[in-house]
Amino acid sequence: MNRRGFLVSTLLGLSSSPLMAKLASDYRFSTSPFTLGIASGDVTDRSAVLWTRLAPEPLKGDGGVESHSIPVQWELALDPEMSRVVRRGEALATPTFAHSVHVELEGLEPGCEYWYRFSVSSHSSRTGRTKTLPDRNSHPDSVRFITASCQNWTHGYFVAYEHMIQDKPDFIIHLGDYFYDTSFGVADFRHHETEKAPVTVDEFRCRHARYKTDKHLQDAHAQIPFFTTIDNHDAIEDMDPEKFAQRAAAYQAWYEHMPVRGYEAAGDNYFDLQRTISLGDLIQISLLDGRQFRDRKEICSNDYPDFGFGNYRERCTAVFDEDRSMLGEEQERWLSENLMQNSSTWNVIASPGPFLPFRYHHDGKELSYIGAWDIYPANRERVAKAIKTAEVGHPLILSGDVHSFWAVDGSLTKDVSERVPVVEFVASSISANWPEELAKPVTDNLPHNPQVQFYDPDKRGYLLHEVNHKEWKTTARAMQDVRDETSPALNLASFLVSKGKPGVKRLY
Ligand SMILES: [Fe+2]
Repeated sequence: MNRRGFLVSTLLGLSSSPLMAKLASDYRFSTSPFTLGIASGDVTDRSAVLWTRLAPEPLKGDGGVESHSIPVQWELALDPEMSRVVRRGEALATPTFAHSVHVELEGLEPGCEYWYRFSVSSHSSRTGRTKTLPDRNSHPDSVRFITASCQNWTHGYFVAYEHMIQDKPDFIIHLGDYFYDTSFGVADFRHHETEKAPVTVDEFRCRHARYKTDKHLQDAHAQIPFFTTIDNHDAIEDMDPEKFAQRAAAYQAWYEHMPVRGYEAAGDNYFDLQRTISLGDLIQISLLDGRQFRDRKEICSNDYPDFGFGNYRERCTAVFDEDRSMLGEEQERWLSENLMQNSSTWNVIASPGPFLPFRYHHDGKELSYIGAWDIYPANRERVAKAIKTAEVGHPLILSGDVHSFWAVDGSLTKDVSERVPVVEFVASSISANWPEELAKPVTDNLPHNPQVQFYDPDKRGYLLHEVNHKEWKTTARAMQDVRDETSPALNLASFLVSKGKPGVKRLY
């Protein structure tokens, strides 16, 4: 499948271009337009993206700004008081991109903290902090970072972010489901603006804006750089031509609300999301896009629609097609080269969905979860081959999607042919629940899956990774109660992987 999708701007009703919109240099806001906060992300050793969006009325499709293009000033400084400004400039917030601003900074110092803010007319944003990665040719002693995923506004507060801030990570990798298109029926808590899933770009904008009003999320974005990728609730899955317009609307609104590069033109049904996160000779992380280019997941008959909401299937012949891909040809090639050429101590794949096999025994059959790599076995085998062939970096996989904490040792998988010498840590969700219909099949099948060293379906939270050249420590940070805006966090479990040694050791 060709990576490049269709330009569907006419279907989206995108009539405004920057040139057509009226330039309003003296536009006056009666209230602050920085209601959605500020953010930084996509950092490298020399670059960063700074983000904001002008939206005095955030839950309106146009944010309350109408069809004007508005110049926004930005400043970058070396101190939180903004007294030592090293860069300043102006970016145009256009109605084409919902008055979002993406300042792509180049030529920064490696491993350096910066502070930034935006201003327009008499209003200034809060001051944010970001940090570049260490020089790609350097030898960093250690790093700490977080993997997280799955924040559902209607299931819980995003209080996990308050604890992430206190953990002082160098960056956060968000593995997708940054928002939920549907609520999944929790009645007695906060609601989405509508139960209808977004279809148009304005509807996607409203949903993103709803999430971006969350205080915990805003605080984290203002203090920690993010890397982000998409999962199934962020955008339409698979390459279904009938859904291209909706998918393009989702991508565009996602770009408008994230501190990222890679979305080229309004209405584009393609988004360059894969990233190589390089931390000198310590870690290289290949952050994947597991949704945009993959072959269809719904290819086998759904014989058990009442089991786990119909997410588990017997693997039919088509699943084993050699050409079947989760990543698409181009991304597969990129990943393979990344894994093979990496000379860092740790060689990491960050995947939205779980990578290692898990088998569900049900009704005398062996079933697989259709959201994971289990239904793309040929692609997984190609990645596994690259992992086995790469001789330098110790491999690890970090994933999310399944709203529960897992630690998995791929060398212990029952089926010898599916063994991969890699440890995978799965982050639980920030707030999205893990209903009994999905949790119990995993628990019931643990005896069939000795590779799973740890599984906790009950707690929401995230994973904190503390890494040096000898050891990789991962701690499951769990929220006591995501319905409590001030919930404490507890260390649920902690794991150690030693460089060059197989397997994972549970510390507590
Ligand atoms: Fe999710």
